[in-house]
Amino acid sequence: MDLAGAARALGAARRVAVLTGAGISAESGVPTFRDAQTGLWARYRPEDLATPQAFAREPQLVWEWYTWRRELVARAQPNAGHRALVELAACVQHMTLISQNVDHLHELAGSRDVLKLHGSLFANIREDDRLPVADSDRTDDVPPRCRVTGQRVRPGVVWFGESLPADVLHAALEAAREADVFLSIGTSSAVEPAASLPFMASQRGATVIEINPDTTPLTGRCEYSLRGPAAEVLPVLVRHAFASVE
Ligand code: OAD
Repeated sequence: MDLAGAARALGAARRVAVLTGAGISAESGVPTFRDAQTGLWARYRPEDLATPQAFAREPQLVWEWYTWRRELVARAQPNAGHRALVELAACVQHMTLISQNVDHLHELAGSRDVLKLHGSLFANIREDDRLPVADSDRTDDVPPRCRVTGQRVRPGVVWFGESLPADVLHAALEAAREADVFLSIGTSSAVEPAASLPFMASQRGATVIEINPDTTPLTGRCEYSLRGPAAEVLPVLVRHAFASVE
């Protein structure tokens, strides 16, 4: 672990792109995707529930799983990792925060303009045209229906096999291409297109820093791999980065 080197690179960067995954919210009590599920949901894999096919087949089951996740996330609080990114944004000239997470913990911590690649748990959209539905426009069915069009209502998240919001993806790609430092935090680097962002940044000359307790496909390809939980490593990294340029 070369914290000093990573801190020097971060402290010298003008443009920083940050990509977060489920691991940054782990210490807030939100289970990651590739952790085994517990309790009621132990017999399902998230990958089997987060698809349009699963919703078409078993809409009630999928809606109830999202209701459980919404309730779990609604009780969660941002941790020191989320807060360190707010601090980082205040220290660098330009920072873009890209997240695969559908929780709202970055926003609750105070991060602004988060590029949410996979949408939000707290949004609802119509199944067929994927347009937003206000709470007042939905029925109490499980899953609800849109009172105006009769379409089924589904969570406003990106499911496996679906395309990402084009404007959000475009902004994320641009941030990756322009970054001097790219930080990849708490993601298994397994899901495209997010997984390609650090590689793209690296090809354009960025220094890539990974924070994760485990190895990922990115580990061997980045300049610095800081092994540990984000809520511990990230505050130390930010503190060192900006102490070292003073
Ligand atoms: P994953 O569940 O695939 O990976 C979580 C990563 O976080 C793993 O690499 C863990 O080692 C790491 N991790 C665990 N605890 C950590 C901690 N305290 N600090 C830092 N890292 C920690 O989650 P994602 O990579 O976010 O997509 O998954 C990507 C996408 O796959 C999700 O957005 C979701 C999912 O299926 C969709 O739903 C479209």
